[in-house]
Amino acid sequence: MLDLRTIILAAGKGTRMKSDAPKVLHEVCGTPIIRYVVDVAKAVGSLKIYVVLGHKGQEVKNYLGKNVDFVIQKRLLGTADAVKCAEKSLKGHKGDILVLCGDTPLLNKNVIKNIVRKHRKLNAVCTFLTAKVDNPQGYGRIIRDDKGSVVAIREEKDSTLQERMIKEINVGVYCIRSLELFSALKAINLNFKKKEFYLTDIVEIFAKKNLKVAIVETKDSVEGLGINSKNELAEAEEVIRGRILKDFMRQGVTIVDPKTTYIDNDVKIGRDTVIRPFTFIEKNVRIGSCCVIGPFSRLRPGVKIGNKVEIGNFTEVSRSQIGNSTFMKHFSYLGDSVVGEGVNIGAGTVTANYDGKNKNITKIESKAFIGCDSILIAPVKVGRNAVVGAGSVVTKGTKIPAKGVVFGVPAKIKM
Ligand code: UD1
Ligand code: CA
Repeated sequence: MLDLRTIILAAGKGTRMKSDAPKVLHEVCGTPIIRYVVDVAKAVGSLKIYVVLGHKGQEVKNYLGKNVDFVIQKRLLGTADAVKCAEKSLKGHKGDILVLCGDTPLLNKNVIKNIVRKHRKLNAVCTFLTAKVDNPQGYGRIIRDDKGSVVAIREEKDSTLQERMIKEINVGVYCIRSLELFSALKAINLNFKKKEFYLTDIVEIFAKKNLKVAIVETKDSVEGLGINSKNELAEAEEVIRGRILKDFMRQGVTIVDPKTTYIDNDVKIGRDTVIRPFTFIEKNVRIGSCCVIGPFSRLRPGVKIGNKVEIGNFTEVSRSQIGNSTFMKHFSYLGDSVVGEGVNIGAGTVTANYDGKNKNITKIESKAFIGCDSILIAPVKVGRNAVVGAGSVVTKGTKIPAKGVVFGVPAKIKM
């Protein structure tokens, strides 16, 4: 694509979230909202991305790191003012600018590409995204003249009762020619009701000057969902979760009951693995092929599982590796563990990985057998083919040799 740059507006307070955290750092499927928007901006070929920061900007900056540029909005004077803050950084830029809101994580990159394509094909000054929704509450409404041409975007607070009935809304994605954008921003007046400068006013400014304004309508209106409340956060979670599950099923993973399966972003699962109901798989988990996970399992970040592994009901695994063909089928907890191949983790096994100060490692080598209801107080090493008798408490620092057998409380090595 020609020189396309993106401004992402993320300075707002997010008052309606009723939260101490910045709105755009709220997570959807384990990933902060802003990350989805940055990823879309990258995927459509933005040469540079400027994120406008304000309220708790440092936290957002720390999260995003060096992948993008930052612009600071000192006073939160509205979306037009937020865009204006990027003017200096964009000095001399003559191409198109994409403006995205940092609170719209469901955007589809193909739709955005389409906006840019149409914008350039029609030689428009401004092309923006609309959606038709059943409940337009909270969104800017699209105002058209008698001929059907778009003449303005009217914010809800400023609209008449009749305008409020309009179901065609502004998603908050705009492709605008750089020079025209910054000159139009100068013509925007303060909105007295909200004491803000509205970016949406540019549409009326362009239309009055007979400059070409075009729109693209999303086929799937949910893609335009803006997150302003915890309620909308949950809606977005449901949509992205559905997308993640569909992707896995497309890749050959069996999801027995998508309604009760929760898988975060950044998870990898091999084909023919079966995920049974009521299972939670959090970010950064890797699962091989032909495994059976669940029902009622929780795999937490940093878990790496080989092939043909079975993790059954009421189990939790955290920051651990599990080798091929290992079984852990009933109510157990593994934390900070490195487990080899062909190991049997008996029902009720618990690794006591935290001693109140440090998290310690439990190492269980291949083909070891851990009897039911055992507690392994880390650091512990269980050698290859070793056996831990049922009900044992293996105390801190124990190293069970290969083929060794231990049992009892505290567990003693059988000579
Ligand atoms: C905005 C649009 C509305 C559109 C909706 C889509 C305006 C005036 N209204 O309304 O037409 O239907 O998005 O979701 O633009 N922000 C700043 N600085 C500010 C104010 C806001 O950076 O001073 C950022 C926010 O962090 C947010 C984005 O701009 O990411 C949108 O602001 P928000 O207050 O959520 O606008 P809406 O009321 O949703
Ligand atoms: Ca919003």
